[in-house]
Formats: sequence, structure tokens, C-alpha cells
Amino acid sequence: MSIERSTERVVDIKSHDEPEEEKLEKSLRPTSFQEYIGQERLKTNLKLAIDAVKKRNDGTTLDHVLLYGPPGLGKTTMANVIAHELGASLRVTSGPAIERAGDLASILTNLQDGDVLFIDEIHRLRRVVEEILYSAMEDYKLDIVIGKGPAARSVRLDLPHFTVIGATTRTGALAGPLRDRFGIIHRLEYYKLPEIQQIVARTAGLLGKEISPEATELLATRCRLTPRIANRLVKRVRDYADVNGDGIIDTKLTQEALNLMEIDEFGLDPADRNMLELMVENYGDRPVGLTTIAALTGDEATTIEEYYEPYLLQLGFLERTPKGRVVTAKAREHLAKTRK
Ligand SMILES: Nc1ncnc2c1ncn2[C@@H]1O[C@H](COP(=O)(O)OP(=O)(O)O)[C@@H](O)[C@H]1O
Ligand SMILES: [Mg+2]
Repeated sequence: MSIERSTERVVDIKSHDEPEEEKLEKSLRPTSFQEYIGQERLKTNLKLAIDAVKKRNDGTTLDHVLLYGPPGLGKTTMANVIAHELGASLRVTSGPAIERAGDLASILTNLQDGDVLFIDEIHRLRRVVEEILYSAMEDYKLDIVIGKGPAARSVRLDLPHFTVIGATTRTGALAGPLRDRFGIIHRLEYYKLPEIQQIVARTAGLLGKEISPEATELLATRCRLTPRIANRLVKRVRDYADVNGDGIIDTKLTQEALNLMEIDEFGLDPADRNMLELMVENYGDRPVGLTTIAALTGDEATTIEEYYEPYLLQLGFLERTPKGRVVTAKAREHLAKTRK
């Protein structure tokens, strides 16, 4: 079981398998609505809900919030912002970390009124755990069974009034009854280019590096409209510039660093292009099933679905059909061009 009373700890396996990236993300994570760039609709709705809670000031808490969307768009960050704006303390755990019903029971009974419980990868909660969460979220009660056999009896415990923030890359994978218990459900969208530019500039600033407006623009086009990738690229370009430049990050250094990383003008890296190439080589313009793609690349099907595919779909490089994924003409043209 993994739980900590802090506003910083993040349990997110794929986002930062390296401790260094985890540190980077922590240091760059916005903590207030004001610092959180973009996602305006989400911010407006949440601000309103949070202001209402504060104004009522009658012990009622913020509705449970479900945030979904592709990785790296700011779900974990938003959970931190919400807790901060509420003036509440945040407890962080994740679906896979809560192994047994007892683990959840102990998390819940250790909460205090007004606390925010962040459950990352909530679609990976086990069934038995999920069922306990239902009544906890609905009426702040915990049903537990004491004893064994004929002497067993069930008791209801009162729980503090808390708010669950769930995050998932796959709402489809969330059981209906669980989904229904969230009062605020929101999809995070890919960022707009000017927003990514702001994030690139902000990150460079926080890393203590000056970047020219042209280089900011160039770099922003390569970030897949995703803040996590923006952070990563800024850091890599910064490192490159530290070695090969003399202070300010300009377009020349940026382009050289991007070439070195083999990131093309759509922000695709060799792994993306390899997947698309394999699909075209073997299937041309015919649909390919997810498991077949996984077999071709040697990745897991869920990795393809959650990490590779969303941006390729957004770009119009892949299309989803009932028979599988199709590489579009736009993607085939791009591949032909980069191959040369
Ligand atoms: N709206 C935003 N404004 C500025 N930076 C952001 C924003 N959203 C995310 N980031 C940056 O991107 C990183 C990844 O975001 P995160 O919340 O971990 O994504 P997710 O949980 O959706 O995978 C964060 O460390 C943060 O620095
Ligand atoms: Mg996250």
C-alpha cells in the first residue's frame, strides 16, 4: 500500500520511471489556478465549485472529481492545485497500490474532514476495493465485516467528509457505478499551441535558462501539445545548449538538439515512426488490430493504446475503425518524406 500525507508525492508509474524526471516534474508542477496554464473550461468549472464550497463553509465538501485524458496533460498537477486552492491536505495513492479492501479501509479511516484523496489510475482498482469505495464516496460510510463464520457481523463506520479526485487515461475502463459517483467529470484536452509556448517559456525560466521567442515557438511545435513532453524537451535542449552554446537557447541550438533526439516536425520520435512504418510495411492502408500492432512493435497493447495512439489520432496519422487502426495517407506521406 502506498500512501503519504503530502501535497507532493505522486504515484504514477509510466510518467517518471527515472528519479531524475520525478524531481523535475515536482519542481515544475504549478500549484495554483493562476500558474496552471490552459484547460480554461476545466478551471472555470472547478473554481466555481471550490468558491461555492468555501462560501457555504458549512462542512460540505467539494464533489468528487474525475479527471481523464491522455498522459502528461496535467491530471496529477490539477489534483494538487485543487487541494491547494481548497486549503486541504492531499493524500495520494493509486489503483494498483491499493491491493486489499483493508488497505482502502485504513486509508479512509485515517482521513480527516475536508481532505482530498487522489487516486491515480483509478481504472485499475480491484473489484473488491471498488465496492468499498462506493458507499464511502456516496454517504461517507464504511461497511466492514468483523469476525469469521457464523459469528461474523457487519458494522457501518462513519467516515470523515472527504473528496476523491480520480485520474484515468481510460474512462471506458471505469465501471458505471464508480463513474456515477463523481459529481464533476472532466476530460483534459490537448493544449493549444500558444499555451504550450507559455509552458515552454515558463519551464525554461524555472530552469534558469533564457530562450529566444523563435526557439520557444519552434520547440512548442514539437511537444505533442503535451506539458510533460514540453518539460522534457526544454530540459534536453537546455542540456544541449549548456554544452554547445553560450547562454541563450536560440533556434539553431534547438534545431540541432531536436535533430539529435530524432524528433521530427510533428513531434514524433523514432518509436512512433517505427510503429507506423511496421504497420505500413505489413498492412499498407488496411486496418490492423491493436494486439497485432503490439506484436509488431514488441510493446504491450495497453501501452500502444494509452501512450502512442492518442496523439497520433489527434494528428490525423491514425484512424480507428471497427476492424482496427489504419495509417492515414497523411501519415504515409510524412513517413515517405522522413525516410529520405
Ligand atoms: N496546465 C499546466 N501548466 C503548466 N505546466 C503543466 C500543466 N499541466 C501539466 N504541467 C506540467 O506537466 C507535467 C506533467 O503533468 P501531470 O499532471 O503529471 O500529467 P498527468 O497526471 O495527466 O499524466 C507536470 O509536472 C507539470 O510540470
Ligand atoms: Mg499523473
